[in-house]
Amino acid sequence: MDLQGDDLTEAVVTSFDGSASERYRTVMATLVRHLHAFAREVELTEDEYFIAIDFLTRTGQISTGTRQEFVLLADVLGLSMLTVGLGNRKPPEATQSTVFGPFFVEGSPEAQLGDDIANGAPGQPCLVSGKVLNTKGEPIANALVETWQADEDGFYDVQKDLDGPQNRAHLTTDAEGNYAFWAVKPVAYPIPDDGPVGELLRAGGRGPMRPAHIHFMVTAPGYARLITHVFDEGDPYLDSDAVFGVKQSLIAGFTEHDAGTKAPDGKTPDQPYYTVSYDLVLATTEETQQ
Ligand code: BEZ
Ligand code: FE
Repeated sequence: MDLQGDDLTEAVVTSFDGSASERYRTVMATLVRHLHAFAREVELTEDEYFIAIDFLTRTGQISTGTRQEFVLLADVLGLSMLTVGLGNRKPPEATQSTVFGPFFVEGSPEAQLGDDIANGAPGQPCLVSGKVLNTKGEPIANALVETWQADEDGFYDVQKDLDGPQNRAHLTTDAEGNYAFWAVKPVAYPIPDDGPVGELLRAGGRGPMRPAHIHFMVTAPGYARLITHVFDEGDPYLDSDAVFGVKQSLIAGFTEHDAGTKAPDGKTPDQPYYTVSYDLVLATTEETQQ
């Protein structure tokens, strides 16, 4: 009764003493302490409190299976990348992880090595290839490579009203660990900013752009799952990614080729095209500290 200040905080903390697990108790107690400390530090007004509640309510209301506004919120606040860093401590030889984002879809089409997965998406063709390796540099055969990316207009297929998937597929590496597919050259694009997260960015004088990238999720038995991107080294937004996901080691060169020249896979596109090559190096589960 009559609780205020530190006594109020401690009463809320101890109200979790009967938690079903010790981990739950620790997480909730720590959350409450930090939340109260935050409100105290900024001397949160009641008006600001109601604005925040309204913001969170609208964030929930706009969310659907394909419009994940809470994921976006975590991303623009750097919480996603913080968690990525905490959950993926691995040897320096392994490919670094980055943000998952809201545009992955379970059950993408299966592709064979060298297939065109653009499926009619607007953009310049781009041959994406490389190897899946372990940290000793040895190839990993039969690794599952899932990939997804935006088109030349900066949209993922799930943001458009389409009949089938575009720029999205899964394939398995061959005996030498190779993967390869044709998609389109990725471009920089804005994260969805027509909702509460967009308001937050504008109020903070921030932009919504992400530098051009291709998403990968790679799995193989005995190895930690790798969720990452390959970024275009020529992109002007590499230093101002709206979700703080860029790592130097994930930047690769996209090389432009003239129409009618032979690509590394033997095809001769009749329009200008790009190639990018990037090896994806997996750490074993033992090499990865969760
Ligand atoms: C993405 O790269 O797909 C993405 C990541 C975070 C927020 C929005 C989009
Ligand atoms: Fe993306």
